[in-house]
Amino acid sequence: VLIGSPGSGKGTQAERLKTELQVPHISTGDLLRSAVRAGTPLGQKARAVMESGNLVSDEIMLGILEERLTANDVADGFILDGYPRTLPQADALEQLLGRLGQPLDAVVELQVPPENIIERTRKRFQAEGRADDEPETVRKRLEVFARQTAPVVDFYRRNGQLKEVDGVGTIGEVYDRILAVLPRSRDAATA
Ligand code: AP5
Ligand code: MG
Repeated sequence: VLIGSPGSGKGTQAERLKTELQVPHISTGDLLRSAVRAGTPLGQKARAVMESGNLVSDEIMLGILEERLTANDVADGFILDGYPRTLPQADALEQLLGRLGQPLDAVVELQVPPENIIERTRKRFQAEGRADDEPETVRKRLEVFARQTAPVVDFYRRNGQLKEVDGVGTIGEVYDRILAVLPRSRDAATA
């Protein structure tokens, strides 16, 4: 699991890690954005919530996750990006992984201060126009992270599964820090 505030680099790092670890990258944000683009009933429901910077309901998210984690390509593992974001989601994940017989190897937290987040999302808003990168919405997303997702980070810290990584630096520097905290990266296994 990759966890961290909006714009902390989860997606960027997961794209690199999936090549290293040879497992799929599952981003709940990307799954929701494709549903929005496709105009499915789910996408229609999710769109306004996402554009406001709030979280889509736990019930909807669990449905999406269950569907994705029961696909064939995740049998050897996966990188989860953007889930869990609430304590009920963390509970649901634990139960689902228990049922699938796939324990969580690590929860990596990318730590990036708000001023860097504001700068990164400002740039991306200019370049790509992602609706929720609008500055006011980024502030809301940071608030939502502090209120609803920080308790999830604390939960994993207390149960000893959390690996904290400094997310400021070049993409390569952050990537190396992640590999260094993973329990059994391919590097370690073949070294
Ligand atoms: P989601 O898509 O998950 O968005 P997010 O986590 O809020 O933010 P990002 O995806 O923007 O950040 P990221 O950490 O992936 O960083 P990235 O690599 O892109 O969720 C969107 C919305 O969907 C939510 O607000 C919610 O409404 C809904 N949703 C999703 N999951 C949900 C769930 N489980 N429950 C309920 N609702 C859910 O990098 C950001 C930018 O910085 C990029 O431009 C990148 O190029 C740049 N960058 C990356 N690394 C660096 C670096 N080291 N230095 C400088 N710039 C960098
Ligand atoms: Mg992302």
